[in-house]
Amino acid sequence: MSMEPVRPPRILIADDTQKNVQVIGTVLRREGYQINVASNGEQAIELANKITPDLVLLDIMMPGGDGIETCQKLKAMKELEKVPILFISAKSELEDVLRGFQVGGSDYIPKPFNSQELVARVKTHLENKLYRELIEKQNAEHQELIHILCHDLSNPVVGIMGVLELLDEVKTLEEAKKFFNYLKIGAENAFGIIEMIRKIQLLDERQNSLELKRVNLLEVFREGLNIIYLRAKKKNIKINLNVDENHYVIVEKTSFINSVLINLLTNSLKFSDSGSSIEISSSMENDKIKIKITDFGIGMSAKLLENIFDMAQETSRKGTEGETGTGYGMPLVRKFINQYGGKLSIESSEEQGDHGTEVTIELPSSES
Ligand SMILES: Nc1ncnc2c1ncn2[C@@H]1O[C@H](COP(=O)(O)OP(=O)(O)OP(=O)(O)O)[C@@H](O)[C@H]1O
Ligand SMILES: [Mg+2]
Repeated sequence: MSMEPVRPPRILIADDTQKNVQVIGTVLRREGYQINVASNGEQAIELANKITPDLVLLDIMMPGGDGIETCQKLKAMKELEKVPILFISAKSELEDVLRGFQVGGSDYIPKPFNSQELVARVKTHLENKLYRELIEKQNAEHQELIHILCHDLSNPVVGIMGVLELLDEVKTLEEAKKFFNYLKIGAENAFGIIEMIRKIQLLDERQNSLELKRVNLLEVFREGLNIIYLRAKKKNIKINLNVDENHYVIVEKTSFINSVLINLLTNSLKFSDSGSSIEISSSMENDKIKIKITDFGIGMSAKLLENIFDMAQETSRKGTEGETGTGYGMPLVRKFINQYGGKLSIESSEEQGDHGTEVTIELPSSES
């Protein structure tokens, strides 16, 4: 999820009456809004084009195109389609206000102004706009997840169907075992994809609900290594754990072990040759703990590294002994690290004689 810089909401006031602009501007500036002023319809359109306001206050009666006409033009602009437009009007102009609603106006501010009412209406419409944008963004993300899910699930499922079609021709037990093994691999692969998507969705839904706690780094690494012990042993890869026993990090423990550490360590195992090693170390710098996981495996190209956090890109490769994966491990790792308020960076080289990958995680720490 991209983090946009936080800035005060921008409000464009278009009114030819100096006094109105002054009163409204003062009240809204006091609330922390950024105010831009136009004194007629044409200027309002020009300015809106330049600054893309979050909300527009439009006088109904203005020279240079009346408020209604200006509203129509603003609404026709792609970037302003969803920006609320509020009319400024006296009671006597109620008929115009009704026309204003017809051309896309969201509300009106009655003259003479009551500052509390003005602030309340502006605030409500800005909040509604932000909420709508959030929902739209979430919808788009869900859409993308569903798309990826369908696309990626089709590989193992088609594979399983292919094997099933051949089952009739199986003659010996030996052959049957081989076929069942293909089915098992396909089913595991499909399940892996579903599990990853489920985790990503859960994390998106429950943003900021992770319970961050202070945990001992050496202990969580030991727990993680226990889980992958057999895999490392089978591939004859030595893992050197060089973590200071006094280092504590602030994370959500279960996800840190099961999603972050296990995925990073599994990647290192998967892409290293038998007999290789993995180094894990930690250091402390200005209240931050830096963790490095280094392998001497096949490494990654610059292009692969560039796409590694993008779920829509194919990055998944088979491991050095044919191990499979989904390609969603790293996007998930980064999501979690972001939630902990940490940073993740990767360096990798495929060069002969100097190949391998180093993952650095920086996490908020707490004194022992
Ligand atoms: N340590 C590494 N060494 C070499 N390549 C790596 C390493 N870590 C990741 N990659 C590359 O990035 C790809 C994506 O990694 P990621 O963890 O996101 O998915 P995956 O490992 O393929 O699948 P999963 O994590 O679901 O098992 C890998 O398939 C591999 O091509
Ligand atoms: Mg992985």
